[in-house]
Amino acid sequence: MRFMKLSLVAGAVGVTLLSAAALLIDRTPAVAQAACDGPTTPFCNSTVPLPAGWKGPVFQLRQDYPAVAPSDQQPWLAFDPRTQPDAYIKSVLAYFYEGNLRPDVETSFDPKLNTVRNWYNAPWQDQGTNGREPVHGLTRERTSRANELAAGQSQQWNNYAVGFYNAPGAVVIGQMWKDHGHPNPAAAGSLPEGTVAAKLLFTTATVQQVPYLAGAPTWKVYVYANPNDPSPKPTSPRAVLEVRLLQIDIAVKDSRVASTTGWVFGTFVYGGGPGGPSGSGWTNVAPVGVMWGNDPGSLAGGPLKETWLNPAVHMPHVGFQGRLNGPVDNPSSSCLSCHATAESPAGQMIGADPKRWFQNVPSGTPFDPGRQSMDYSLQLAVGLADFQQAQKIKSAPTPTLRAKFLQERIMQDSRPPRDGGPLH
Ligand code: HEC
Repeated sequence: MRFMKLSLVAGAVGVTLLSAAALLIDRTPAVAQAACDGPTTPFCNSTVPLPAGWKGPVFQLRQDYPAVAPSDQQPWLAFDPRTQPDAYIKSVLAYFYEGNLRPDVETSFDPKLNTVRNWYNAPWQDQGTNGREPVHGLTRERTSRANELAAGQSQQWNNYAVGFYNAPGAVVIGQMWKDHGHPNPAAAGSLPEGTVAAKLLFTTATVQQVPYLAGAPTWKVYVYANPNDPSPKPTSPRAVLEVRLLQIDIAVKDSRVASTTGWVFGTFVYGGGPGGPSGSGWTNVAPVGVMWGNDPGSLAGGPLKETWLNPAVHMPHVGFQGRLNGPVDNPSSSCLSCHATAESPAGQMIGADPKRWFQNVPSGTPFDPGRQSMDYSLQLAVGLADFQQAQKIKSAPTPTLRAKFLQERIMQDSRPPRDGGPLH
């Protein structure tokens, strides 16, 4: 109780100063003791205070990472991702849905309510302007520009997302973050076979602007009040907004595609995208496509052999030269071109030279020679980079330098990582 009161007081201060970066500024010693993201504390759920009088769900970062993954079914092994991509990715989605769907939309995907299997969240996604909001733990993602989601979409809209790892992936998160004050990047060099990461992406776009969102599950979340502002500042006001399910991303570590990348990435769009069938609820989604390589051999043109696009879905854009990307994503990249850059120190996710970004980087190999691979996991890379930057700010030798580092951080935040912005 005492802690709650104190954190609300700290929250009020945080809102006026730097809501999302509240942990980076000084607090009273009593609050600091009860804080999170410290060397001996739990990881933060969110550093954004809840709205006054909030009675709805509160995000709790699932962080009891297991030492060993229990044996589990892997239903996607019944399908070859290269020849049966549709059945493959749908079976992974069904695995992700199992135990996570409930009649109450707001309590769906709460890991502590899932009695079938455990899902976990990656730590240190809570920093800065784009960090987790407090109700569902959503981070701010790339803004959708006009006409990217649907023809006739005249405004740009903010997007928000939350990701989950299954137990095999969570074992690695636990190994990397065993010592909360000294993470070990090398532990994330290779995620185990059967790792699944899945991410729910929600949009502030209205049904009027994007008609296929009709019937989409909605969550109320505490995000930037202006849904059309592409670069909110830490001081921008927040409000409880309704966001709609737009996209579901999936990544699977599968050795059957080891000769390309070792990873299968797939994405779903709510309502089947423009012109899709009407319906409602979590299951009313259709695969946009699946990819297991960047097709480096087709950069001069020619058919893609490592991306499958669902012929029944017609998005305004996918990725580079028709490689897979989701509705929210940057059309000049692909799922795997971005994720291949997961490394420490952080790599550059999007660049001008297609030969470099659309090569097939084998799982466990760093994008830039000499760095530590983080095996296609960008949440682990973002978390580590944010941890390191927070330490740099905290240990700045003078107040002037400290203010300078903080300002640098805020400037970098104007473009979220999912837009190809720096990972700090
Ligand atoms: C512009 C680069 C970029 C593109 C393109 C991209 N992602 Fe990501 N993705 C990120 C970043 C950065 C994160 C970590 C931060 C976050 O969650 O937003 C991430 C996180 C994820 C996660 C959570 C687990 C993890 O690996 O960190 C999944 C799953 C995922 N993306 C799948 C996809 C899929 C599927 C596609 C293509 C449809 C895709 N991504 C396209 C940058 C990208």
